Amino acid sequence: MMPEQVAIVLAGVDRLRPRMEEVADDFYARLFARHPELRPLFSADIALQRRKFADELELIVRAIPDFGSFVERARHLGARHAAHGVRVASYAQVRAVLFEAIGQALGDDWTEETEAAWGSAYTLITETMLLGAARPATRGTLRGRGR
Ligand code: HEM
Repeated sequence: MMPEQVAIVLAGVDRLRPRMEEVADDFYARLFARHPELRPLFSADIALQRRKFADELELIVRAIPDFGSFVERARHLGARHAAHGVRVASYAQVRAVLFEAIGQALGDDWTEETEAAWGSAYTLITETMLLGAARPATRGTLRGRGR
């Protein structure tokens, strides 16, 4: 991910901050309308989750330039998501819906360049989360082979 792209995503996060919960609200409404099968993975009261998601999205994007701490954070987040029952295919479903919600909120500022920058950030975050999700299984296999 290019440093310029990190700057674009951070500028977007700054712009969205006052409305982040509204954006998260829109995001979950779209997600559950389009993929109702995902709803049972989340607790009944989504209000707390909205805030956690909005806070984490900002923190994790801010962590990208400090790569070591970013990787640690994203791997742990991914391992927790595996424990929540989140499957690999859902990462693409979430991406499409999240970008609609962010695009809606940013309006004319959601340009091709902005979308590409968010795309790189989302890929980086979620690929690292998936490494974190896979790690416990890999370790189990290695231990199982007596290593
Ligand atoms: C940028 C990517 C994502 C971020 C920053 C993020 C952030 C979070 C945070 C902060 C939590 C609170 C619990 C915790 O920290 O472990 C959470 C929970 C959860 N997330 Fe994500 N998430 C992301 C992607 C996804 C995706 C792709 C799915 C797929 C459906 C998903 C589904 C869930 C579920 C089911 C929970 C548990 C909710 C509950 O207990 O009510 N997340 N997420």
